[in-house]
Amino acid sequence: MTTDAQTRTTAASGTVAGLMAQIADTGRDAARGGYSRPVYSTAEQELREWFLDQARQRSLDTETDRNGVLWAWWDAGHGARQDAVVTGSHLDSVPGGGAFDGPLGVASALAAVDHLRHRGRTPRRPIALAVFPEEEGSRFGVACLGSRLLTGAIDPDRARSLRDPDGNTFADVAAAAGLDPRFVGPDPEALARIGAFVELHVEQGRGLIDLDRPVAAGSSILGHGRWRLTVTGQGNHAGTTLMEDRRDPVLAAASIVHVVRDAALRHPGARATVGRMVPVPGGTNVIASSVNLWLDVRHPDDAVTAAVVERIHAEAIRAAAAEGCTVRLCEESLSPTVHFDPALRSRIGELLPAAPVLDTGAGHDAGVLAAGLPTAMLFVRNPTGVSHSPEEHVEDDDAEAGALALADVLEGLAGW
Ligand code: GLV
Ligand code: MN
Ligand code: MN
Ligand code: MN
Repeated sequence: MTTDAQTRTTAASGTVAGLMAQIADTGRDAARGGYSRPVYSTAEQELREWFLDQARQRSLDTETDRNGVLWAWWDAGHGARQDAVVTGSHLDSVPGGGAFDGPLGVASALAAVDHLRHRGRTPRRPIALAVFPEEEGSRFGVACLGSRLLTGAIDPDRARSLRDPDGNTFADVAAAAGLDPRFVGPDPEALARIGAFVELHVEQGRGLIDLDRPVAAGSSILGHGRWRLTVTGQGNHAGTTLMEDRRDPVLAAASIVHVVRDAALRHPGARATVGRMVPVPGGTNVIASSVNLWLDVRHPDDAVTAAVVERIHAEAIRAAAAEGCTVRLCEESLSPTVHFDPALRSRIGELLPAAPVLDTGAGHDAGVLAAGLPTAMLFVRNPTGVSHSPEEHVEDDDAEAGALALADVLEGLAGW
């Protein structure tokens, strides 16, 4: 058995920038720009293996739980895995996403362990790193699927039957990735080990640019949800169908996109987006028979989110009827506004007195875990203010400041 001192001299160690450089080529998307790393794709699997390898190089004890969450434990000889201080994030990406959304939190967690080892003491509480699958919901439509399964926030039967754009079920994809899909679902024992969860993430807006600071502590996550609107018309021939004879769901969908913006504009602070629209069957010389539109709506007040969606639904029915079409609305996921744990936030305020406090409009696994656990977040400045896009960026010095801040938080919470 290695002692902590031996571990310190043999373990790998790296800067956040150095760690990020190791994965810079994985999952690049030449067509879209940026990275496409859908959960359990070759690219994401490579990153998961990379994480496990990095953790083992640091003599952390690795495991994959029944929901595909990766864990790496620095037990420091405590025996029982309980009341752990856990940090981590995700390695999947949106299509054509940036390099940092998710991986920055994972690389920073590894770098924070290196910082703590160099400080040369043994944590009183166990420290663990965690990597959650399908945070973005880019493959199966439900954001934070891994943490939702772990916490019981999604019915496992529903999760198993989710399909990716190629028609593969989550059950089949999970099985191909080495999980037993029969056993995905709530895992109270895995959860009971966590005393506190702190996720570090690239900031996805301009807060830290405006404040001219490298690192912030999180206060809350905007409530958000996803809905699918299916607009149905009459599939037909593009050449033989007179314009006045058509029931074209693409025209209805175009009107609905305007309805979405107008509904959000009625409520200050509301955000509503149609980021994906798929005509079926999708041929240049084919009037579509239906169109699926995916809607993302967010607001700090969950009642306003509901009101925006209700209005969109009513107006979409009208807009579709004007084109001889019908609309069906289906909720895919809903996450209420989350305020991070007050005691944990105030402790982080003591540990990072210079860090400003920011909320975020982006969703995170920390938000799902917050329903049952003390959770908090740290944000690292993104000099472009742009995210879910190749332009997302973090300067090396800021990434290092983030990992140091995370190390300070882990050290303060774990005790020595
Ligand atoms: C995930 O990043 C989201 O907020 O949609
Ligand atoms: Mn993220
Ligand atoms: Mn994201
Ligand atoms: Mn997110």
